[in-house]
Amino acid sequence: MSEQNTISAYYEQDHDRLDELFKTFQQLKRSDAAKAKEAFEAFKDGLQRHIVWEEELLFPLWEEKTGMSEGGPTFVMRKEHRLIGQQLEAIHDKVAEQNPDSDQEEQVLLGLLGAHNMKEERVLYPSIDQVTSAEERETVFREMKSIPEDRYHGCSGQH
Ligand SMILES: [Fe+2]
Ligand SMILES: [Fe+2]
Repeated sequence: MSEQNTISAYYEQDHDRLDELFKTFQQLKRSDAAKAKEAFEAFKDGLQRHIVWEEELLFPLWEEKTGMSEGGPTFVMRKEHRLIGQQLEAIHDKVAEQNPDSDQEEQVLLGLLGAHNMKEERVLYPSIDQVTSAEERETVFREMKSIPEDRYHGCSGQH
């Protein structure tokens, strides 16, 4: 299986990219509020897009292939996305009112995301790569590009 067209490689890279944006936000929020806000907005949009990709394309494909949905790993991942979305909104509210005092919400979000991403990277993504063909993955990558921006841009993350 070639590395570049695996779900694992692409989605892990997106997790890493989002982690970096969040780190930039945390590092700059008390010294350069404008740059910190920019990094946070890019993080929020990017994470919401990532969640839309997973819930609308990846998870349904995996559920169809394995026959597992209710009570299975994608069910758990969807529930965790809702918790992640709540923390994202809590931090967003503080960023919007230029209040850098969001350390606690940030810790909660990092805890949720860390555990969530690890489960996806260790279990779910490799399993998706196992049960799909290269063509099916190509279709996923194509469909990811065609999801309209307003599905994740600035929205609440509650899909
Ligand atoms: Fe996820
Ligand atoms: Fe993910």
